[in-house]
Amino acid sequence: MIVRIPVSRRQFLTTAAASTAISAAGSIAKPYLSRAADRPLITHGIQSGDVSNDSAVVWARADRPARMLAEIATTDSFKTIHRAVFVDALPETDFTANALIDGLPAGQDIFYRIRFQDLASPTIVGEPMTGRFRSATADRRSISFVWSGDTAGQGWGIDEARGGMRTYATMLRNRPDFFIHSGDNIYADGPIVAEVKLGDGQTWKNVVTEDKAKPAETLAEFRGNYKYNLMDRNVLAFNAEVPIFSQWDDHEVTNNWWPGEPLTRAEHARKKYVESNALLLAARASRAFHEYMPMRFTQAEPGRVYRKISYGPLLDILMLDMRSYRGPNGEGLEESYGPEAYFLGPTQVAWLKRELMNSQATWKVIAADIGPARGRELEVADILSFIKRAGVRNTLWLTADVHYTAAHYYDPNKAVFQDFEPFWEFVSGPLHAGTFPQNALDNTFGPQRVYVNAPSTPNRPPSEGLQFFGHVAIDGTTQVMAVTLKDVDDRALWSTTLEPKLG
Ligand SMILES: [Fe+2]
Repeated sequence: MIVRIPVSRRQFLTTAAASTAISAAGSIAKPYLSRAADRPLITHGIQSGDVSNDSAVVWARADRPARMLAEIATTDSFKTIHRAVFVDALPETDFTANALIDGLPAGQDIFYRIRFQDLASPTIVGEPMTGRFRSATADRRSISFVWSGDTAGQGWGIDEARGGMRTYATMLRNRPDFFIHSGDNIYADGPIVAEVKLGDGQTWKNVVTEDKAKPAETLAEFRGNYKYNLMDRNVLAFNAEVPIFSQWDDHEVTNNWWPGEPLTRAEHARKKYVESNALLLAARASRAFHEYMPMRFTQAEPGRVYRKISYGPLLDILMLDMRSYRGPNGEGLEESYGPEAYFLGPTQVAWLKRELMNSQATWKVIAADIGPARGRELEVADILSFIKRAGVRNTLWLTADVHYTAAHYYDPNKAVFQDFEPFWEFVSGPLHAGTFPQNALDNTFGPQRVYVNAPSTPNRPPSEGLQFFGHVAIDGTTQVMAVTLKDVDDRALWSTTLEPKLG
């Protein structure tokens, strides 16, 4: 549920007193009295996401039917409240609330303060929590961001004694402007059990919850997966300080699903699925994903995940969805394009081409939940040759997907399909999941492994330190992009700089 309160630019600049803004939003300007125990609580921290140069989404969840009151300021004193919006959090959304805040000034530190007002007793308002983000600039300021994927995968949950999901704390230390979660925000099909024996004789001890005890099938179980991750203190601290641009991959629903898939594979029997089709799981999963992610809402297609995020003159990000529109998983041997060969699907492909063509930004990041070499070749070939024909410059692909970190350079001279300009794909993950050996690379697009860091045996636990993210910095003056692959201990494992083609 998103509520927008339009305020003109002029009004934004002149709105001064906090009380004015508050009474506009929720008529709580009167003093209120309550016993602390009675007050509505913020149950799972606060989040922001999908930040542009003039707007962003903020999120919180209450413990009862409550009105989320969000106030925006450019200083942490909140002396001057620039915007105030409210959204009701009801059981229908599991008490979550997403609010799109618009009319923000560009290139500013933005502070947001969230409180819940008890809808049954409106004089009772809970304690506030404060978060921050930086709005994108309208001019060429240096920017930086991180990306990764795969949270709480393969049964590796929150082990408090091992510091929880530490990669989030490491990413926060990098103070990025934002974070792209490349997918597998949850592992809906991966239960978290209390103890896992490690190879070295030690025991991994997970925090456990009822909702994470079995593969998710009900809406409550899908929601429970997000709540689980929001119990980790590293995640909570990160969310309050860094906006997320989130996309989904397969595990938000179930392993390697496709729309309409009957749940009849051996792994479905092993996981004891009661539901019979992936589409029903996907419908519930999508609802929970959108409830728990601070994401923009697409009215033309409620539930859409693919979208463009403009981050000023240096950067456009094209967030893809390679799961929701695909054809059945098969051998991938289709020779002509049709529903069997869908990957992004024709509507999303047309959207991507249009956005790439129209982008005025120096860099165009294609944020993919799966690497192009693992895709269905027909659509990827079409997109790559379009980029060449249309003269779209300075594109690169970022993903997590494979649970190791790598830098791949795709060279038409080494490829079977040759009608494209060379490009980079940078891969980094997992955030907090098992790490896996490198995949064999398909040579359709001529990938070269310029760098890879992967174990030789599968599902290495996070305690072995092979948890990865990537860091991107774009220099405001030279527009040069520096890409660094990093690990959970913030070691820079490999890096490169890319000069943009200009003029
Ligand atoms: Fe994953």
